[in-house]
Amino acid sequence: MDVITPVEKNQHYENLAKAEVLEAVEPTVQELMDEHLNKRRLWFSSDFLPADEKNDGDDERVLSKLRDRARSVSDSARVALVLGLLTEEGLPHFHRLLSKYLGDESVWRKWNFMWTAEEDRHGIILHDYAREARLFRMREVEMMQYAYQEEGFQPEWDKDPYRVFVYTTLQERATQFSHQGTAKHVGGEEPVLKGILMNVAADEAKHFNFYRKVFKAILEIDPNRALQSARTILPSIEMPGVSMPNFREMADVVRRADIYGPWDYKKIVEEAIDFWNIEVLEGLNDAGRKAQEKIMQLPKRLEKVAKYIETRSDRKAFSFDFIYGRTFAME
Ligand SMILES: [Fe+2]
Ligand SMILES: [Fe+2]
Repeated sequence: MDVITPVEKNQHYENLAKAEVLEAVEPTVQELMDEHLNKRRLWFSSDFLPADEKNDGDDERVLSKLRDRARSVSDSARVALVLGLLTEEGLPHFHRLLSKYLGDESVWRKWNFMWTAEEDRHGIILHDYAREARLFRMREVEMMQYAYQEEGFQPEWDKDPYRVFVYTTLQERATQFSHQGTAKHVGGEEPVLKGILMNVAADEAKHFNFYRKVFKAILEIDPNRALQSARTILPSIEMPGVSMPNFREMADVVRRADIYGPWDYKKIVEEAIDFWNIEVLEGLNDAGRKAQEKIMQLPKRLEKVAKYIETRSDRKAFSFDFIYGRTFAME
């Protein structure tokens, strides 16, 4: 007689096995964290945007010049900036997820607190910049930020900690690309904003490097389960802001401005597949092989999606309350 194990129970043991693997990679995580700490350079908002009580008047001149230059920032760049700012402000959602999925002990806790402290500077500096430069109808931005926080973020990760590393790898790279793209779009007309965005992007690159290496270590120990987790996340990453009002419109502006879009996502997925050597992994069981196969089909599928979006896209007019409902059209 066949013994039938209830699904919930299987899932429970699967998750226990994964927790053991997370414990097994702790020494590697500690090494990666040390490597990260050696390379990082901490900067703060007031390094770029003076805010001291005591100043010799120069600081005020710096800020007033900045405000003059900021007038030249295009509406599409402003939209990208709001999207970047709000994404960074979603930090409480991610702090919670890391603590929930990776546990609140050992090196994982240390990493989560440190990573959160680093990330927190991103939201702060972009918010400070937006306020100093007078780029928006600020209350609109604040209301969006409030709505985004209040909405929460509950991704379907099925208690699977491996998915966290696939998600964070892709998400860190995607935010790096979009901050960099925004910096390029702003150009040399506002060097302070450009400098801020490039520094934030450099942080994201370091986080990306950490997460992708952690997942590589997991793949080495537990390739079959790791591939199945990767398969669920890689097709598309759900941005927490998706429920935010106007999220899709803002993402459309960012895509049309060549800041970040489906071609970038395809590149990120291909890069992850290469780095994790997914194509050549051997000794897999059936489920692992199946996941590997599906993952290897992704770049083609993502290319199709990107082409479809491109060909379907016509000139379109946009308008957002946070830039006073001004209308601008984009190809
Ligand atoms: Fe960030
Ligand atoms: Fe980051």
